[in-house]
Amino acid sequence: MILITGGAGYIGAHVAVEWMDRGEDVLILDNLCNSERSAIERISTLAGRPPGFVYGDVRNRRLLDTLLRDYPIDAVVHCAGLKAVGESVREPLRYYDTNVGGSVVLCQAMAQAGVFRLVFSSSATVYGDCTRMPISETCTTGQPTNPYGMSKLMCENVMKSVAGSDPRWSIGLLRYFNPIGAHASGLLGEAPTSTPNNLLPYLLQVASGERQALSVYGRDYPTPDGTGVRDYIHVVDLAQGHTCALDALRERRGISVWNLGTGRGYSVLEVINAFEKVTGVPIPMTFEPRRPGDIACCWADPRKSLEELGWQARHSLESMLTDAWRWQCNQHRHEKIRQAN
Ligand code: NAD
Ligand code: UD1
Repeated sequence: MILITGGAGYIGAHVAVEWMDRGEDVLILDNLCNSERSAIERISTLAGRPPGFVYGDVRNRRLLDTLLRDYPIDAVVHCAGLKAVGESVREPLRYYDTNVGGSVVLCQAMAQAGVFRLVFSSSATVYGDCTRMPISETCTTGQPTNPYGMSKLMCENVMKSVAGSDPRWSIGLLRYFNPIGAHASGLLGEAPTSTPNNLLPYLLQVASGERQALSVYGRDYPTPDGTGVRDYIHVVDLAQGHTCALDALRERRGISVWNLGTGRGYSVLEVINAFEKVTGVPIPMTFEPRRPGDIACCWADPRKSLEELGWQARHSLESMLTDAWRWQCNQHRHEKIRQAN
């Protein structure tokens, strides 16, 4: 059985479904601060049986000790954390407490329980403003421009030290590029509780009429059309990267770092055009100045993940956008039914 912290969230829920699809068991620990209990029901529907679920905080050492004692957990996927960049600037201590503090408590509890296999949700943000593309795992980590990014880098450093302190540890740092998309069933996806910061969730809200227009931040970057270029990766591909990492970590010790990206970058305008093409929905947009802290380009060199994990992303940009739109339309329909009742 694996423990997924933050397993009711966008990425953790997809990891849960992938792992359960293999006939394996999952226990989810989540305090639902950015997700809903209904995610657990949706995972049950997709997996054909319910995952274990415990409502609680990853910083609660006593709770972790109990879970690691009472359930046959042999690995942990640590997705629990806060991820809104703007909020992290306003509330840095909450971010360091949850993201870094949560990771420290989790590692302590795991070590005490003798569970040494850990997969961590890191981010390409740890590379900072790396100018050489594509970004491989050997690129030095940079200086993240906000407390969220800094907290991810700090977590990585904590885990590197932990792995160096005891040879029994086997830790995989998964550096996600830009996860988008949703489960093809339309049952699982990203459900922002406040104004989205990221491109795709914002674009989806414009498409469904919840917001008027998409702001395109910057058209003077040194990119083919002047807008920022990113490596968007389907969340189901990303989730499969976790199952491959869990398998690979059985045979490895110490720290392993893997990029989870497609290796291909798309500009903001390319994403908008592709979305309009696959859905037929026009996206009103305005051009705005660059967003502070943004970089021009970011895309992965995914070769190490292919070589060491046998993993590679399979979904096209079109399929990411189609799945994301299906999810958005389902959400919208449910919301309307809820309001009507
Ligand atoms: P999410 O907010 O949908 O999921 C995170 C989950 O963690 C939520 O269900 C939330 O309720 C839970 N949680 C937060 N604090 C908790 C705590 N103290 N105790 C227990 N549960 C807690 O976010 P996501 O997109 O699924 O991201 C998962 C992880 O991946 C995060 O650590 C995030 O930083 C990282 N990440 C995400 C992206 C992205 O673009 N989505 C990119 C890079 C890295
Ligand atoms: C952002 C965060 C990063 C975090 C990642 C995943 C910043 C500076 N960086 O990365 O730390 O790890 O999300 O959560 O916030 N864009 C628009 N209009 C919008 C939104 C975005 O034009 O309304 C553009 C951006 O300028 C960028 C691209 O779309 O060029 C992607 O942006 P976004 O989805 O926010 O991801 P990142 O900037 O890569």
